[in-house]
Amino acid sequence: MKRTKIIDILQSQEYGQPVLAKGWVRTHRNSKSVHFIALNDGSTIKNVQIVADSEKFDADLFRLITTGACLSVEGLLTESPGSGQSCEIQAETINILGTCPADYPMQKKGQSFEYMRQYAHLRLRTNTFGAIMRIRHNMAMAIHTYFHNHGYYYFHTPLITASDCEGAGQMFQVTTKNLYDLKKDEEGKIVYDDDFFGKQTSLTVSGQLEGELGATALGAIYTFGPTFRAENSNTPRHLAEFWMIEPEIAFMDLEELMDLEEDFIKYCIRWALENCHDDLEFLNKMIDKGLLERLQNVVNTEFIRLPYTQGIEILQKAIAQGKQFEFPCNWGDDLASEHERYLVEEYFKKPVIMTNYPKDIKAFYMKIDEEKPVCNGKVMNDTVQGTDVLFPQIGEIIGGSVREENNDKLIAEIKRRNIPMKDMWWYLDTRKYGSCPHAGFGLGFERLILFVTGMQNIRDVIPFPRTPNNAEF
Ligand code: 4AD
Ligand code: MG
Repeated sequence: MKRTKIIDILQSQEYGQPVLAKGWVRTHRNSKSVHFIALNDGSTIKNVQIVADSEKFDADLFRLITTGACLSVEGLLTESPGSGQSCEIQAETINILGTCPADYPMQKKGQSFEYMRQYAHLRLRTNTFGAIMRIRHNMAMAIHTYFHNHGYYYFHTPLITASDCEGAGQMFQVTTKNLYDLKKDEEGKIVYDDDFFGKQTSLTVSGQLEGELGATALGAIYTFGPTFRAENSNTPRHLAEFWMIEPEIAFMDLEELMDLEEDFIKYCIRWALENCHDDLEFLNKMIDKGLLERLQNVVNTEFIRLPYTQGIEILQKAIAQGKQFEFPCNWGDDLASEHERYLVEEYFKKPVIMTNYPKDIKAFYMKIDEEKPVCNGKVMNDTVQGTDVLFPQIGEIIGGSVREENNDKLIAEIKRRNIPMKDMWWYLDTRKYGSCPHAGFGLGFERLILFVTGMQNIRDVIPFPRTPNNAEF
């Protein structure tokens, strides 16, 4: 007999028909004459209830049906008299595919997420992590569908790179050199000409620069892949290995970029609301009672678009009225997360797209604004057409910009920042040969999953997190 997935069994109304289910035991309880077994196979958050007459089966068999054990159950599908489920399986045969001893670490309910992180290989079998992983899959589908439907090409940028053009953070080196016997020059510097690529290479911190090559040929592309940053930020929002989505579009200006960011992110959240109903309902009940309402609000609200300079004025006014922050916020400072949270969660109570940041706190490739801003009546330094999308609970979820397409201005900025030009020749060719205005952004996939699931720690929305001092599993 062919196995039916539990998600399909629960929707079936073929009562009286035989059915074969396979899965892992969530709970097992019994009254005098019957045993009730809740079975889950990962296809849905919901369990199917197996009803087994005590007399029909050996008592030894029931003793092996412990939480976490894997079963194959054949029986008749029947309408369920109990509340909470429409149907159940009256067991005819039960086979134990895998027993589960009493030291199974996921046995107890209500374990802390911290505890479960030690068992990342087994936590996937819990209701919460099952829900998160199904939502994660659905978000990936939403992203591919959105871009495909809007005429973007999925463009694969390399994970191994010889440049740190982004300057986004510390990089992980990639080498086949013998670390115990390194070839060095007279000054004692490591020589890479005998390394695999004949030069120093690392794991990428962003696919953007190669993405720009794609966009200035194909018109509109997006990347979706792993990204690596070795910064030692041990926070609930940072991973050393995370997934980033980076669309890049020719002929797009700042207004259109913000429209895209807002439309795209709303599409993803709407997708979750439409396709992940049971899992979201579960998370809303068990993890975060405000989750569904927050998702609905974001879908139905217009994001605030706020130039950095105006943001600073709002923050300074709040400080003048007695609001206390740990960090200063003068024009030119990078906003701390407390400042972002104030604007998003207290002042506007909506997602905020912050724009036109001071040039010195953003990457070299951002297009410089024509006019200098005025802050509290004073003319300030140059700003750039960068955008950060700031979300309630999350902070920065997207970072993007219009790119500087003028070759001379871009080279001047590269020189000013002492970025080695020799690594950049291929990137600068986009500006030399048929340069075009273009823009793009990067969405942190796990930050999106954090928002959609209501989880608090980024380590809990990726199957096997990589963080400082943690590369287990
Ligand atoms: O703001 P970032 O550094 O921007 C870039 O890398 C640009 N090249 C993107 C582009 O314009 N194509 O990173 C983009 C997003 C952030 O907004 C954040 O959501 C996420 O990537 N991110 C991280 N997520 C998890 N762990 C980390 N260590 C992250 N660093 C950035
Ligand atoms: Mg950023």
